[in-house]
Parts: sequence; structure tokens; C-alpha cells
Amino acid sequence: MSLTSLRFWILFLTSFLILVLLFSAISPGDRDFIHPRLQLDQSGALTIAIFADLHYGEEENGWGIDQDIKSTHVMRNVLGMESPSLAVINGDFITGENTFRENSTEYVHRIVAPLVAHDLPWASTYGNHDSKFNLSREALFQTETSYPQSLTRQMDPSLPGMTNYYLLIYGPPSGNEERPVAVLWFFDSRGGASYQHEPANEDDIPNWVAPETARWFSTQHQNLKADYGILLSLAFVHIPPHAFLDAQKGGLDPSHFPGVNDDVPVAIQGKGSEDTAFVDALLATEGLHSIYVGHDHGNAWCSTWPGREKAPFLCCSKHSAYGGYGTWNRGVRMVRISFGDGAKGCEVETWVRMENGDIVSRVSLNETYGIDVYPTADGE
Ligand SMILES: *[C@@H]1O[C@H](CO)[C@@H](O)[C@H](O)[C@H]1NC(C)=O
Ligand SMILES: *[C@@H]1O[C@H](CO)[C@@H](O)[C@H](O)[C@H]1NC(C)=O
Ligand SMILES: *[C@@H]1O[C@H](CO)[C@@H](O)[C@H](O)[C@H]1NC(C)=O
Repeated sequence: MSLTSLRFWILFLTSFLILVLLFSAISPGDRDFIHPRLQLDQSGALTIAIFADLHYGEEENGWGIDQDIKSTHVMRNVLGMESPSLAVINGDFITGENTFRENSTEYVHRIVAPLVAHDLPWASTYGNHDSKFNLSREALFQTETSYPQSLTRQMDPSLPGMTNYYLLIYGPPSGNEERPVAVLWFFDSRGGASYQHEPANEDDIPNWVAPETARWFSTQHQNLKADYGILLSLAFVHIPPHAFLDAQKGGLDPSHFPGVNDDVPVAIQGKGSEDTAFVDALLATEGLHSIYVGHDHGNAWCSTWPGREKAPFLCCSKHSAYGGYGTWNRGVRMVRISFGDGAKGCEVETWVRMENGDIVSRVSLNETYGIDVYPTADGE
């Protein structure tokens, strides 16, 4: 072998090695680029389906099996009738106090099957039942993010809880494809019991969005504002902030705020003041349009923020499954963000699609929401 060809081979092999090393250094978190990116459709709209409080995995050896099959039917039915571009799973995937250590996360595969069948991307928040003696948030995260359709993130691992992140929504294919037009915020209200911690299933994790997370939220908002200006945003969190309780105490006239209001009082984050940093951050976030919670299976209304003008709307999701407490008919809260008509600006509409196909509580969350008169929701 000549010296030149030896040099060639050394160079070739070194380059090859460097490339191999580079590719192997890509950690699982960097798989991001293969995920679908959220984009408005041709008409300038994005529709979200919120599945709340699925509570899979109860009573493994009996009625729980049928219960989960019925819940899967709810998801399938609704996805057969609506065509969202994103699903949000808004906490309490699994009733973790009922499941077994060796297979608690098996339920995740059953939960997401209807979403995978529709090739529908989803983003989650975790609930207080997702952390229990035999189920950890970390395991849940590992399992759900093994699907390319999962957009769930943990943006800053130093924050308490896991599902603290945001997703950007980009303009329609023919328009501002490279520019985000809206933000979806996701927060972890934590709660539940530490994994494999005795006494089993004794809730020991604080059940509110941590003040550190509230600070992170404000910083991220400022950064996004510096880059893109004020963007419309929606927020998702499992346990309601205390403003939801204040709204309910204010009396929620069903002709203005349609939707079942049977969970009285609203079960909130902490005892009413622990979430103050988070609530202040929500109020300080310019462009934040509305906040969507789960947790209370018997509430499905949207309210104005009590005592405030120009504050985000407060919306309960709709219990979407047969697991968990309560026998209210099941449904899915749908949210449609539309940038279609430039003159009107952005419009946000929401309704509940019931398991039987009915559409109830369809409202426009606009400037006159709270004054506009709506039919009260029957059949919920
Ligand atoms: C946790 O899982 C183990 C192993 O399957 C089971 O024996 C135990 O009863 C479960 N414990 C609780 C508290 O759910
Ligand atoms: C999990 O394990 C339990 C106990 O062995 C069993 O009864 C149950 O069917 C299993 N669940 C799943 C989803 O595999
Ligand atoms: C808000 O939406 C309702 C229902 O579509 C409509 O009647 C009302 O005029 C809207 N208000 C504004 C300010 O556009």
C-alpha cells in the first residue's frame, strides 16, 4: 500500500468513526425531530380533543376489564365523529393504586391505541393517580414517549413534576409555516403517592404546580415574547387552580355557563393558597386565552375568571371514561382555535362531544362570553 492510499484510508476510517460517534450520542430526548409538528390546517384552524381522567386499570380480575373496553369505545366513537389534529390526555391515565408493579404501564398501550389508529399526535399532563405505590410518572413517561405520536415533554428536569412544557403551533401550509402562531402550555399539578414508598398509596406528593415551575413559565413566556411577540396560548393542567373554586362559588348560571356543575366544591390544587405563584403567572401571561383542567369528573363548564376583566377563561374538561368515580355520561371536550377570518382575529370555540354523538355546551369563548345566552346542556 502506498503512503497516499494509507493516508486516504486513515482519513476515511477516522471520519467514519466520528460520524458513528456523533449518531450514537443522540439521546432518546433528541428524537424530537421525527415527531409531527403542529400546524394550522388550510382554513387556519386547529382542533383539539381533550381526553380527561381515563383511569384505566381498575379491578384487574373482574369488572375493570369491561370498564376499560367501554372507555376505549368512548375514544373510538368520538374520534370517528370529530377530526382533531391533536389529542390532549389531561391527567389520570391510570388508577395507579389498583395496578401491579410489573405491568402498571401496560395500560398506556391500550389507552393510546385509538390515537395511534388515527395517527393522531397527543400531548399529556399527569394526574394525582398517575403516581402511586406501583406506578411512577417516570415509567409512564418512558412508555408514552416511546410512541412517535407522543409530544409529551419534560423541558426542565430540575422542576418538580414531569409534564412541564410547551408546544408551538405553526401557521397553515400555504402561509406562515415557519412562524409560530400559538402556544400550548402543559403543567404538572403533581399529587399522589411516591413509588414503592411505605405506607403504600398514602399521598405524600404536593398537589399543586410548584412555584419554581411558575417562575420557569414566566421566563419561557418572556423568551417566546421576545422572539415572536405576544402569541395566543392555551394551558392544560390536571388539578384546577383555586380560581375554579371561586368561579363556582360565584354561582355559574347555566344559561351563561352551560355544562354539568355537580362536583361541589371543586377539588383544587393544595388548600387554596399553595398555587398562588402559578395563578399569578397565569394572570401575567399576555395572550393566555383559556385554561383546561380535569380531576373533577362532575364538572364540565367554562367560566370567565371571577372578578377580573381580560383574564383567561376557566374550562373543565369532560370525564371521558368509565374508570374513576361518577356516572355522568361520558364525553370529550373539543376546542377549535381559528385564525381563519383575519378581520375578527382569532376565535376559540369549544363543545363537548358525547359518547352517543350528541354535541352539548357549544360556546364561543369571546369577549361577550358570560353575557351571551346559551341553551343549557341536556344529556350530559
Ligand atoms: C403492587 O404490585 C405487587 C406486585 O404485583 C402486588 O403484589 C401488590 O399487591 C401491589 N401493591 C399495591 C399497594 O398496589
Ligand atoms: C397485570 O398483572 C396482573 C397480576 O398478574 C394481571 O391480573 C393483569 O391482568 C395484568 N394486566 C395487564 C394489563 O397485563
Ligand atoms: C361571541 O359569540 C357568540 C356566539 O357565537 C355571539 O353571539 C357573539 O356575538 C360573539 N361576541 C362577539 C363580541 O363577537
